[in-house]
Amino acid sequence: MTGGGDCPGLNAVIRAVTQSLILQAGVRVTGIEQGFLGLIEGRFRPLELADVTHILGDGGTVLGAHNAANPFDWHGEDVSAQALANARALGLDALVVVGGDGTMRIAHRFDQLGLPVVGVPKTIDNDLLHTDRTFGFDSAVAVVSEALQRLQTTARSHQRVMILETMGRYAGWIALHGGLAAGADILLIPEVPFSPHIVAEACTHCVARQGYALICIAEGAHAATGKQIVRAHLPHSPDPLRLGGVGEWLCQQLEGTLTSEVRSTQLGHIQRGGPPTPFDAVLATLFGWHAAQLVLQGQFGRMVVLRGQACASVPLVDVAQGIRTVGLNDPALLAARDLGICLGN
Ligand code: F6P
Repeated sequence: MTGGGDCPGLNAVIRAVTQSLILQAGVRVTGIEQGFLGLIEGRFRPLELADVTHILGDGGTVLGAHNAANPFDWHGEDVSAQALANARALGLDALVVVGGDGTMRIAHRFDQLGLPVVGVPKTIDNDLLHTDRTFGFDSAVAVVSEALQRLQTTARSHQRVMILETMGRYAGWIALHGGLAAGADILLIPEVPFSPHIVAEACTHCVARQGYALICIAEGAHAATGKQIVRAHLPHSPDPLRLGGVGEWLCQQLEGTLTSEVRSTQLGHIQRGGPPTPFDAVLATLFGWHAAQLVLQGQFGRMVVLRGQACASVPLVDVAQGIRTVGLNDPALLAARDLGICLGN
């Protein structure tokens, strides 16, 4: 099952789990459609080798992924018993759940109810606890990096300040790595509240030195203006400050201050679509293979993680405790500061 928002590499996991289980142990594999919605509604289909042979590099997920289906709160009702009954009627010995923190929390609850679960961490945001990486992140960073390179050439032509807003929810991983990869001048992430005044000063300095300025800002970044914090307002938030995104908000602030023209781009779901990078295709394959090994060994209630170069696993309960944001001692953050990149504080 694939749950939550999609990302590049999901099909690589589906392929690896299916191929490993069938070829190693002759296991019968079933795909659950549309995440937990499929468990609620009993939407299953067999997965044979032929179903997964050509999907490795395809974006999205062949199983579909309902973003918000939670059997413990489905339109205000707890339908987890119905979902469990469907799983039992199917004769499931194990459920491999591929998803982000929300999906892992639900998976953990099912595991506690006696459905043997193995989790696989997915998200472009790279914000799952206890794993050094989630697959999807490298692909998103590649998209951000390319977008910044394109914005840089037009920024130079017109001597403008260009702002790129990335995804990432409450974590700054995508903006930090994408910005570093493409040489952004100013990097703004949720973990480091920024002052619009300092950002404006950095822009003036960059324009004087090189003719343009390139800003990469995470959607969850927020500004500290005097004593007031202008919060990060994610796309789903009804907060009017967030209309158009924090990048657009910053654009308006800077336009009132700078003599240079300022333009803002919100990259949006382009970061989530398309094929995985080779790194993500390999990582997703290793994760899927490792998940299959846990199933075959009967090790349940665990999520696959990456530790350095190797796969390991941790209890699902540990993953369900929160999210992983960028630490203030993170090497990429320290390097950015020492390279003279403005972090807005
Ligand atoms: O968690 C992945 C993510 O792409 C975030 O970076 C972003 O805030 C969110 O999902 C967007 O969700 P939706 O697809 O519901 O707009």
